[in-house]
Formats: sequence, C-alpha cells, structure tokens
Amino acid sequence: MSDKLIIFDTTLRDGEQSPGASMTKDEKLRIARQLERLKVDVIEAGFAASSNGDFEAVKGIANAIKDSTICSLSRANDRDISRAAEALKGANSARIHTFIATSALHMEKKLRMTPDQVFEQAKQAVRFARNLVSDVEFSPEDGYRSDMDFLCRVLEAVIKEGATTVNVPDTVGYAVPELYGNFIKELRDRIPNSDKAIWSVHCHNDLGMAVANSLAGVKIGGARQVECTINGLGERAGNCSLEEVVMAIKTRRDYFGLSLGIDTKHILAASRMVSQTTGFVVQPNKAVVGANAFAHASGIHQDGVLKARDTYEIMRAEDVGWSANKIVLGKLSGRNAFKQRLLELGVQLESETDINAAFAKFKELADRKSEIFDEDILALASDGSVSHEDEQFVFVSLSQHSETGERPQASVVFTAQGKEVRGSSDGNGPVDASLKAIESHVKSGAEMVLYSVNAISGSTESQGEVTVRLQNSGRVVNGVGSDPDIVVASAKAYLSALNKLHSKAERVAAQG
Ligand code: KIV
Ligand code: ZN
Repeated sequence: MSDKLIIFDTTLRDGEQSPGASMTKDEKLRIARQLERLKVDVIEAGFAASSNGDFEAVKGIANAIKDSTICSLSRANDRDISRAAEALKGANSARIHTFIATSALHMEKKLRMTPDQVFEQAKQAVRFARNLVSDVEFSPEDGYRSDMDFLCRVLEAVIKEGATTVNVPDTVGYAVPELYGNFIKELRDRIPNSDKAIWSVHCHNDLGMAVANSLAGVKIGGARQVECTINGLGERAGNCSLEEVVMAIKTRRDYFGLSLGIDTKHILAASRMVSQTTGFVVQPNKAVVGANAFAHASGIHQDGVLKARDTYEIMRAEDVGWSANKIVLGKLSGRNAFKQRLLELGVQLESETDINAAFAKFKELADRKSEIFDEDILALASDGSVSHEDEQFVFVSLSQHSETGERPQASVVFTAQGKEVRGSSDGNGPVDASLKAIESHVKSGAEMVLYSVNAISGSTESQGEVTVRLQNSGRVVNGVGSDPDIVVASAKAYLSALNKLHSKAERVAAQG
C-alpha cells in the first residue's frame, strides 16, 4: 500500500455549501490558486451541474490551475456527469466525483428508490463517467449509516466499473473514531477487488470528531485519501479541517508513517483567505490557524519556550506560515513592494487596473494607520473595494452623528448601478442608522441574521472587519467589509452582502 496520503480539498464545494459561504467565481479562483500553492493533490472546485455560476467557476479553475487535479461533483445521472466533464475539459488532470445515497433512510425517504435501483444507478453512473475521464471517484452518500452487506455490493460493483477512488462519507457526522476506522477496514477486507481503488474518508464534524474520525479511517482503515476543507468550513458544524489533519500527519509521522505533498507554510494564508472571503471568523483557540495557536500567555509557559521551544511547542509556527515580524509595509512603501507582498500572501489581482486600485486603497489606509499588517492587506484585497466590476452597489462616503442622549443619525452615499445615491436614517446606534440609511434606498427587505466585528490586528488602531449575513427568499449570503472606522466597515459589509444577494443564481443542493 502507498505511504502517500492524498489531500482532497473540498472548500470550494462542500465548504461553500455552508449557508452564507457562497463565493463568486473570482473568489473561488483566488482560493484555488492558494490551494495550488499549498500543493493540494485534488481540488473539488464545485458542482458543475448545480448552477451556471458553479459551472463557470469549475471551468475557470480547470483552465487556470495546472498542478492539482481538478474535480467536479455530480449526482449519479448522465446529465450531471456530462456537465461536469464539459466544465473540466481544460484541466491538466480531471476527476469526476459522482455520488448517490445508500443508507436505507436516504434511499427510502429522500430518493424513494429501492436498493436495487440505487445499485444499478451507481454502476451506470461510474460506467458513464469512465467513458469521459479516466479518474472517477464514487461516494455512497450517508455511507457510514448504510447496511454493510449492501455497501460491499455497491462498492465492489463500482470498482468493477472503473471507479479509481471510493469514498466513504460520514455525511451526518455520526461516527466515532474506532468504529469508523473499523468500518473502512471491514469494507476493504470484505470487498474482493478493494485493492483496485484508492480508499477515501469524508467526515462531517457534527460531534466534533471529523478530524479524529478521518485519522482513524487512515490509521485503522487504511484509507489513503482524506477529504477536508480549510478552517473546517462546511454545512452545520463543518467538515474535517485540512490544517489539522495535515499537521497531525506531519507532526506524528512516527505514528502514521505517511508522507504528504502539502507545502505547509502556505496554510495560514489559505486560512485567512477563506475566512476573509466567506466572513467565517476563525476562533482564536482554533488549532494551527487560530490567533492563539502559538501564543503562550502563562509566565511558566513563556519561560519554558524561551529556554527551549519544544517544552511547550510541538510544531514550529513558521512551518504553517506564521511569521515573527508581522509589520510589513508603511506609508513610504512603493507599488512594487506592495505588489510583491500581495503575491507572497497569495493574492493575485487579475489586472494592472486592479493592482492600481488596491495600491490607492493601501496608500489611503497607510495615511490613517502607521503600521500595515498582513491582515490589513488581505482585508483590503478581499473587502470588495478593489475591483467594482459586476457590482451593483459601491460605497462612496458616510457621515454620522451620535451623542449621548440623542438618537444617532447617518447619511450614506453609494453608487447603485453606477449612479450616485444617498440614503439617510436614524437608528439605535451609528451602525444601525447607517445600515438603515442604505436600506431606505435599496429596499431589499433582507433579514439580518448575523452581524460581527473583529479587530484585524488586535489594537484599537487596527482596522475593524465586519461580517454581515443577510437572508432573503431562502438565500443566505455573507458580506465582509473592513476599515479603521467600524461604521464605514459595516456599511461596506452591508453593501457587499447586497451585491451577493443580487448576483447569485439559484442552485441545486448537493445533498438533495
Ligand atoms: O457528505 C457527503 O456525503 C458529501 C457527498 C456528496 C460526498 O459531501
Ligand atoms: Zn460532505
């Protein structure tokens, strides 16, 4: 058996399914480039048949990314599979990932199909996909809650049809490590042609065990592919986290005995990019990428680390991309230094116009803030203020007045389809007044389901990064905005969420 563990990243597909985490094509492409820099083996770029937007995103990524295999999800039917193959045409290395549910509950209640019908459809789907590409993955959805005999029958058949990878999803995060590991082992032991495919694990985090279950699937079950997402992004409690699984395999090589292709020093930039793009904030105590992951607050720990770092540190912060000197640029930095830092941070702006616009924003920020940190640059590049192409609403300026004992008033100027407009309102506080001022003009009727503010680099001098989550007609979107003035950051975040509400097309659900 190979000692290489394949890292299959599904941030752009399963991660993006998380309500509010939907991304634009450009955002997806930017993250895909960072995943390529990270040397992820397989990037699941989307679900091509689910919407035109997803089709274009998969196609764009397949054309742009050359070092990773690009994969599209598809349901087990000819139309979805053909659409995936079409979107993947430009890829150097393409994979189709087809799935159908195999648990009694899903077959009876969701699909309303008999086990024999599911068996035939799974075989037919893999056969059809194999005629289009040579790399085909099959997933029995809700596999972990499926009957063992039936699952053996399905997986043996799809391997016979040419599936090159078989994945065993714990779709609802029900597994516990030892049982999940043994489940994969039993499947591999009982299926006569199991050695003809690579075995993969795909765990959800409903009970907080996605990483532990995936590692057990590798160690006990012999899986050689892990499906995961940056920051564990995903529906409900999320997916298995890439950074945790990768650092566990690397740090405990003595135990797992496996090699990885991942270039771990790009992990932190990937984490920040995904967090800032989706507005899903990383908790400070999150393993590997949380702000406190390498911070030692207690005197005893600090003393120990200064004397010998391995007293309290099992990984080197630099190995996952934390740098000791976080101050990168200032007021006097030139365009080239700025451009170089953007590249080092994994931000690839598409045109010279975008770079010039970003540099102007940077200069504006440097006038107001003496030290510019990496986080500021990333926020600047992802707050929607760089390129306004395709954006319906663009922030221009804001004024507000608040005084103890008086109701705050705000007036916001923004462009709507290129035309400058102004909205004014009062509100419970300056942020409330500003967002109501925008709404007084836009009249979106959207409900706000989340509002959060985060100080990007820790102090009151830092930029505030605001996330606004809006819900309208069953759709949920996140908008992110940043500025040293949190009222302005809030207005930008609100406009960014409105832009997403206006732009995203309907899509079918992967679990549907
Ligand atoms: O969780 C799941 O079952 C999935 C499949 C579509 C692979 O994401
Ligand atoms: Zn999943």
